[in-house]
Amino acid sequence: MAEAIARPGRTMPRHVAIIMDGNGRWAKSRSLPRTAGHRKGVEAVRDVVKAARELGLPYLTLFGFSAENWRRPETEIFDLMHLLRFYLRSEIAELHRAGIRLRVVGDRTRLAADIQAMIGNAEEMTRANAELKLTIALSYGGRQEIVIAARRLAEEVAAGRLAPEAIDEALFARNLLTGDIPDPDLLIRTSGEKRISNFMLWQCAYTEFVFTDILWPDFTRRELENAIEEFHRRDRRFGAVSSR
Ligand code: IPE
Ligand code: IPE
Ligand code: MG
Repeated sequence: MAEAIARPGRTMPRHVAIIMDGNGRWAKSRSLPRTAGHRKGVEAVRDVVKAARELGLPYLTLFGFSAENWRRPETEIFDLMHLLRFYLRSEIAELHRAGIRLRVVGDRTRLAADIQAMIGNAEEMTRANAELKLTIALSYGGRQEIVIAARRLAEEVAAGRLAPEAIDEALFARNLLTGDIPDPDLLIRTSGEKRISNFMLWQCAYTEFVFTDILWPDFTRRELENAIEEFHRRDRRFGAVSSR
């Protein structure tokens, strides 16, 4: 199957990003509590990470919890944080064995201290791995990220260490949390919603979007492959004239 997707003469996406949406609706359709959907969603994360590695994708980014998701009921946030702990505790060793580098982007100061510590350890442990660069966006907001970068550059200018005219797109991009990660080539959003919900606003300037009605807990390797197939049918022009 991997061979079918990664055929010679085809440029595979270097970076696939996924807005994992629809856990709540998946649970609701089964008359289950929302947590059951989140729990099943963690299984889908596991499968998709494995599939991405097997397909040889260099970068995979998963949107796990947005800066705006802090507006959810405390009980749901508690359940999500519990699942995050569970995921980190059970998966880090396996990710490391599989040669995966884990990184978290977002405002981690809002996460519990033990979760911050687990993330720090995982990043340190997997730092040199090169199989798949897995980024998980937690407590992440695209606008917040841009404001932080702007503030950091403004401080450099105010301190006399940076000339305003030295600020260009490349320097700005390097000051984002994704500084050393290429922009996503393909963004997938599950659950039928067709919006970006404050995800990687700067980075998605020329990203191809694939929206699927599949709810995140039902997302499988096959769905990932379908999205990549759709990506291959797109004509990326970047403002220029088609070369096809
Ligand atoms: C995605 O599923 C998981 C998170 C945003 C944390 P949702 O919880 O948003 O599920 P729906 O959109 O309510 O179905
Ligand atoms: C976006 O999903 C955030 C994540 C998938 C982590 P939401 O379910 O929070 O998005 P909205 O509120 O429907 O835009
Ligand atoms: Mg949602």
